[in-house]
Amino acid sequence: MTSFRYPVANPQIGKNESTYVNECLDTHWISSSGKYIGAFEEGFSNTFGPGVSVAVNSGTIAIDLALEAVGISPGDEVMVPNFTFAGSVSPIYRLQAIPVLIPPCEDTWNIDVELLKKYLTPKTKAIIAVHLYGHPCDIKAIVKFAKEHNLAVIEDAAESLGAKVDGRYVGTFGDVGCFSFFGNKVLTTGEGGMCLCKNQQLADNIRLYRDHGMTSDQRYWHKVIGYNGRMTNMQAAVGLGQLERIESLIERRMEIHALYNNVFSKTEFFKKITIPENTQIVNWLESPVLKDSCGLDRNKLIQDLVEDSIETRPFFYPISQMPAYSRFGLNDANSDYFSSHGINLPTYTQLSDSDVNTIAESVCKRIEKQFNKGSKETKALELPKNIAPSYTPVVSIILPTFNEADNICSIISTLREEMVSISKDYEIIIIDEQSIDNTVGLIRENFKHDANVHFHIQEKRCGLAKAIHEGILKAKGEYILIMDTDYNHDPHMAGKIVKFTEHFDIVSGSRFTTGGSMEKTSVWFCSLIYNLMLRMLLGLKTQDNLAGYFCIKKEKIQLLNSDFIFYGHGDYFFRLLYLAHKKNFSILEVPISYKTNLSTNTSKSFLWTLLCYTKRALKLKFLSTD
Ligand SMILES: Cc1ncc(COP(=O)(O)O)c(C=O)c1O
Repeated sequence: MTSFRYPVANPQIGKNESTYVNECLDTHWISSSGKYIGAFEEGFSNTFGPGVSVAVNSGTIAIDLALEAVGISPGDEVMVPNFTFAGSVSPIYRLQAIPVLIPPCEDTWNIDVELLKKYLTPKTKAIIAVHLYGHPCDIKAIVKFAKEHNLAVIEDAAESLGAKVDGRYVGTFGDVGCFSFFGNKVLTTGEGGMCLCKNQQLADNIRLYRDHGMTSDQRYWHKVIGYNGRMTNMQAAVGLGQLERIESLIERRMEIHALYNNVFSKTEFFKKITIPENTQIVNWLESPVLKDSCGLDRNKLIQDLVEDSIETRPFFYPISQMPAYSRFGLNDANSDYFSSHGINLPTYTQLSDSDVNTIAESVCKRIEKQFNKGSKETKALELPKNIAPSYTPVVSIILPTFNEADNICSIISTLREEMVSISKDYEIIIIDEQSIDNTVGLIRENFKHDANVHFHIQEKRCGLAKAIHEGILKAKGEYILIMDTDYNHDPHMAGKIVKFTEHFDIVSGSRFTTGGSMEKTSVWFCSLIYNLMLRMLLGLKTQDNLAGYFCIKKEKIQLLNSDFIFYGHGDYFFRLLYLAHKKNFSILEVPISYKTNLSTNTSKSFLWTLLCYTKRALKLKFLSTD
């Protein structure tokens, strides 16, 4: 059990549940035969039907059995939401069928027909329509679409017992409705589930697979390869006790929802989730979603609420983000959003009105505190953190930023075009040193729906090299492209540089190389001297001297001593090159042209620049010990 004052869930076990279970114990009907199984199944159909009920031992196995019963075979495609609990998807893998992950709608977190249309192929055989977090999906339209294309519909109503569409319970629209009776569900049997079947034939089929594939008229004769999906008499006894007062259990959950809503609707913190007309949700778990504009850190909110002894849960991860499921890559910003902004709050019938108010107010206070803290320090802190793309990118572009408002949006747009032009999956990781010129605000405004663009806010003035190192640690791509945005290297070169890196270990680019252009002769002259010094002191045969734009294979960067990160502005690159030379990596330098529409900061005096370069060269010489 939990040590929280307010756990996220707490089953309410009534008197009849105990009486019925004790009767099972007293009469020794404790296994998967006995009167309660039939009574529970019948009661379930009468309450939540129409349909024929088959009791099983989990919500997940209900889906396994439903897929078997509708005839899914290896290689068939089954559409399933990308944003759901893994139990909706794992049964598809067990049958060696192919899950086709469907992104959710932006405003409901469920899937709809418009999205299904895009993913339909001749191999599609079924849809698993999930009613997530107590909210019915657009099930009538989905069933209509399925009929038109001869597809089976399995409703995953694990979290939505009691929710209705047009006055009819979810789970009764498709071929089979699957329910879970896990401890935190609207009705619980500890562990358990139910298949609510459209007709007797489907129910018979599910019973066959549930009971080891054994025919009911010939013991130990296994007609098909089945499962043991049976519910015990004791579980059914608890289920029956719960079923007898299910109306009041659902009603109390809805009252709790109204209480939470009463507090939350007075704030601007939460995203509005659309509930279609004629739809009645059930409050399985109170599930507010933070608005992006709040710029709050959901994970921090979860931690803060622990201090108030309030247990919560983060929303599910998108299925495509988890390594076990990621082989069908998907770029799905909506799932990423819900997953990183949603939180489940304590929801169980024993909560009093004042308990709910206390929890809701704690949530709001914690948000306000985080919000105020963020806006006092710097606007940059309002950024969403930990947004990861839902696929493994091939190229990770790292952009360290500090006050880049003038250039950053055009750089990102160009980089995106470049990656598309060379057909590479990519992510853009912005590592911001808490800019004060709204750099990050601009990025957020312009690219907030792009899951390929994500942020990390560094400590103030952490230094370019450390920022880059942070980016490297976060990068998931095989190629790591680093662009020093301060020097305004032309982002149009990104595609070429990545392409060259297919043939070299490191490819660098600078606007000061032969073939590139430059603005000030003094800077060019200083660069030349610096370059000569590097050749003499370190034996580095570089042609340029301000390269802050390079691409390196991840497998190679991992072989290098990471102490190049301790070098300051600009020097990290030469340190990196020096180490790469030592390891005999293949290196290519590419000229980068200067973009006149970008701002420049090369206005230092000749002597000052020369002094800086000399200092740099000497520092590199004396710190380069290996
Ligand atoms: C959407 C969804 N589907 C399936 C399941 C699987 O149910 P069970 O845990 O009973 O196996 C769950 C469980 O919480 C769920 O939330």
